[in-house]
Amino acid sequence: MQIAVDGPAGSGKSTIAKKIAEYLNITYIDTGAMYRALTYKVLANNVNVRDEDAIIKLAQESDIRFFLGDVYLDDKIVNEEIRLPEVNKSVSYVAKIPQVRRILVDTQKKIALGQDVVMDGRDIGTHVLDNADLKIFLTATVEQRSYRRYKELKDKGFNVNLDDVKKDIINRDKIDRERKFSPLAKADDAVVIDTTDLSVEDVMNKIVSILEEGK
Ligand code: C5P
Repeated sequence: MQIAVDGPAGSGKSTIAKKIAEYLNITYIDTGAMYRALTYKVLANNVNVRDEDAIIKLAQESDIRFFLGDVYLDDKIVNEEIRLPEVNKSVSYVAKIPQVRRILVDTQKKIALGQDVVMDGRDIGTHVLDNADLKIFLTATVEQRSYRRYKELKDKGFNVNLDDVKKDIINRDKIDRERKFSPLAKADDAVVIDTTDLSVEDVMNKIVSILEEGK
């Protein structure tokens, strides 16, 4: 069983993908966390996010993996660091480099090879798991998505304002949608769910009924 969950920032992908994995008792893989871990390393090494050659070199040297729900970068758990506002701002510049994507997608495909998975990201239905059993594309208005991300950061104690968060999200989506190599896009055979006015439970009910129908 392979399930792809894609959509723009703040559409609810990780919350929903995690719930689907729990419901089916299968592995959840947050592919955004891999681009974030590399971006964190880029920033920690003072590498400019436009310096593609240096970033590709870091990607080749890095070991990014998941173990028991934690994200590891070169044997260090980086769950918190990869959610920093600086990483939010820079991650799309790192993720648009084709050679970086090749390296990380290769790892993602290997993870999915031997087990049932739910993966969330931007190119899962179109590229990484193009034969997935179920493809879901989540959307929501930019206002709603910004508010969710703002609340998430506030709850973690970051001093952010809603306008800045909204600008970051708009910028990140634009880069993700417009990049040449596997951009954010809905797969032709994906089911679209607009989560703007839906609770997590509402979205899950829809997905569970799709899964039940498919049995
Ligand atoms: O899902 P999340 O918001 O954590 O992803 C962070 C960033 O990683 C995205 O804005 C995008 O630039 C990149 N990404 C990607 N392809 C994926 C997952 C994430 O390009 N499959």
